[in-house]
Amino acid sequence: MQKQLQQIIPGRATSDGAGVRIKRSLGQSQQARFDPFLMLDEFNSESATDYIAGFPAHPHRGFETVTYMLEGHMLHEDHMGNKGHLRNGDVQWMTAGRGIIHSEMPQQEHGLMRGFQLWLNLPAAEKMKPANYKDIPAADIPVSQFKNGGSIKVIANSAVIDGKVISGPIQGLTTQPIYWDVNLPLNGKFAHAIPATHNTFIYVYEGSVAIGEDARQLEVGNAGLLGAGDEISVTALSENTRFILLAGIPLKEPIAQYGPFVMNTTDEIEQAIQDYRNGVLAE
Ligand code: CO
Repeated sequence: MQKQLQQIIPGRATSDGAGVRIKRSLGQSQQARFDPFLMLDEFNSESATDYIAGFPAHPHRGFETVTYMLEGHMLHEDHMGNKGHLRNGDVQWMTAGRGIIHSEMPQQEHGLMRGFQLWLNLPAAEKMKPANYKDIPAADIPVSQFKNGGSIKVIANSAVIDGKVISGPIQGLTTQPIYWDVNLPLNGKFAHAIPATHNTFIYVYEGSVAIGEDARQLEVGNAGLLGAGDEISVTALSENTRFILLAGIPLKEPIAQYGPFVMNTTDEIEQAIQDYRNGVLAE
């Protein structure tokens, strides 16, 4: 059964960090989450004033942040002494777990800065696991070409293209996340199986698409939440259409969030705030 487009969350212009202009779709309100995904921000600007302030040192606890840099150069530094340069096509998969303190600062004073930051929730049993950080250079992310001229980058999980399994660098997490970046020519179609267990959404960042049998349209800058089913079919309605497809097994657990802390109860949030104040959030 094909998944249909059920709900559209328009990306909303806002700012975060020290004043970085972003477009937030998922996560703009508590109702706008899609379990296990908490938030999706797109940053896309050629104007340095929109991004130069960056994200100075700040904490996280209880979930994972995934940064996908389409174009630009940012430097990640954290309390564990990690330093990671994110450049065109690189991905950073960071597990905050019990706590991380990091900064994400632009390393360019002009030119295009473009990419995404996704927040992926962790199950209760994993929220306090040790922090971990993984830099994935663009060269380690497999790309597969379609016969129709389009292509797919497999960041997380695996895709099967023309009978060949394409495995991304991120595998084996509890929510079994899928993170694909798909490019299609006008009228190009992408059809693929998706486990029925997964909540699935698509964010279009170039062009527009029609989804499923009823061909409901999804325009650029919008997140489209899909309904039940075990396959997706997406057709590009414009030349050089680009979208990311995210899917994961919902946790179905209560969420208590205070800014960069995402736990299950308000007591755990109080603890996170106290730990941060006492300097023991991340150690
Ligand atoms: Co952060």
